Amino acid sequence: MATVPVTSRTLLGRLKSAREQTDRLFDLLRPEALYSRPIPERHRLIFYLGHLEAFDWNLVCRKTLDIPSFHPRFDQLFEFGIDPPVGKAAEDQPSDWPATEEIHRYNRRVREAIDENSDRAPDQIAQVAIEHRLMHAETLAYLLHNLPYEKKLAPGGSAPHSAHRVANSMIAIPPGTATLGQSPGEFGWDNEFARHTQDVPAFAIGKHKVTNGQYLEFVRAGAAPPHFWTERDGQWRYRGMFSEIPLLLNAPVYVTHAEASAYARWCGKKLPSEAQFHRAAYGTPEGFERPYPWGSAPPDVSRGNFDFHHWDPVDVDATPAGDSAFGVSQLVGNGWEWTATQFGPFADFRPFAFYLGYSQNFFGEEHYVMKGGSARTAACLLRRSFRNWFRPNYPYVYASFRIVEN
Ligand SMILES: [Fe+2]
Repeated sequence: MATVPVTSRTLLGRLKSAREQTDRLFDLLRPEALYSRPIPERHRLIFYLGHLEAFDWNLVCRKTLDIPSFHPRFDQLFEFGIDPPVGKAAEDQPSDWPATEEIHRYNRRVREAIDENSDRAPDQIAQVAIEHRLMHAETLAYLLHNLPYEKKLAPGGSAPHSAHRVANSMIAIPPGTATLGQSPGEFGWDNEFARHTQDVPAFAIGKHKVTNGQYLEFVRAGAAPPHFWTERDGQWRYRGMFSEIPLLLNAPVYVTHAEASAYARWCGKKLPSEAQFHRAAYGTPEGFERPYPWGSAPPDVSRGNFDFHHWDPVDVDATPAGDSAFGVSQLVGNGWEWTATQFGPFADFRPFAFYLGYSQNFFGEEHYVMKGGSARTAACLLRRSFRNWFRPNYPYVYASFRIVEN
């Protein structure tokens, strides 16, 4: 079920395994659910059924290899997703969208064309197609998470949780440098370049992500409950992917950036900057930096909750083999981590000529950088330089946080 590290597969093989991931998500839906819109600020699910293939077609066949279109209307209809301000939903009707069978026919033709021509596409274009699909494997999981349970089929299995309460402590990180961004010649999205270092003064950071149990104290003090919680008979419960369960007190709380910031203020602390996150995650007492918090071994299930093994979070202390050199836990996996850094370009940023709006349409104060990864983040997206971003009040993301003291 898990994807294999970047280097050990051909690009076409990786694309096929990414297709299996996204196909599996659509297989979880009862047929009538395809035309529903589980998140008001996103398209109906039916859009994504066409979007994944339309993206590959437009990028690889139409724009890169100049192959004439066989279905221009679908190429355009399924080309772009949406990201309106929270509360501003689209107003289309299910009947505005094509029939499922027509989209499946389009998809089959696109896959054949891609498979026949993929060896003529530059590696960078193939990597963009693969990672775009894998990112949608995660954002589709957010959409499915918000579907009523009766509209999806549970695959079974759940992550174990312990009854004891995890104690959180602050870990001192000495001053040092953090390297942000991807090395020249390696694959990365446009916003990962250019690579550069930043000096980071001493700070202290939570050993663990803030848990539901800790956040519960904030809610008892008057804060609004997170989107992932629901109240039944005076008890808070966790709205899991396939069932509602008692609140997982030791699992990370998933919150918006606004909620994470408010909690940090309530504790007299702050959210880490992007550079502080890097320093805590990849820095070492010796001064060199690691590719992953645990070292240079490729990501595997012992290091954290990522790469599609679970649907829901595990406890914040469940994966000590993934700790950073400074002893900070779960900086990668089990929930993206909000940073205090607004999403913006690194110096010498250049947009991809073949996908101009990918990053720069989102630069500015409307989006914040998230680092790390969630249970539904593919292993290849756990590279150090990868940056994710969302609106500060978008509540549907598997987004956790930890606090710092400067
Ligand atoms: Fe997309």
